[in-house]
Amino acid sequence: QSSIRVDVSGVAPGTQLTVKWLGKPVFIRLRTEAEVAAANEVDPATLPDPIARNANIAADAPATDPNRSLVPVGGDANADSEWLVMMGVCTHLGCVPLGDAGDFGGWFCPCHGSHYDTAGRIRKGPAPQNLPVPVAEFVDATTIKLG
Ligand code: FES
Repeated sequence: QSSIRVDVSGVAPGTQLTVKWLGKPVFIRLRTEAEVAAANEVDPATLPDPIARNANIAADAPATDPNRSLVPVGGDANADSEWLVMMGVCTHLGCVPLGDAGDFGGWFCPCHGSHYDTAGRIRKGPAPQNLPVPVAEFVDATTIKLG
């Protein structure tokens, strides 16, 4: 049994919860409207890694913001994209990126300077891929199941 359930009822907009799953950190962030808007301004085709890297959708799906976010129960993929769940493991050499940091308002990996945006997509630095979105789903309004 490798799946876990996480109560996200206490997560305020603009903050994140870090939980440990399968020995690795997972970031669960409730993004602000501004964070989502910033992520939607980018054409995914122009990104260093144009692929969503989301285990819940097609392996070649583009890295649009809706393709990176986790939709709440009964939510709409495009309108309700505030939740972002991803592995907190830098795709360069595995350090844990810092939240609310970096040149793109998302995450910054201090090990070698990788900047991720508000959708966890690599924008600058040596990391080759976006932070991966693990198998995850909302099982009720305030509970996310990982795995
Ligand atoms: Fe993150 Fe190298 S491990 S930049």
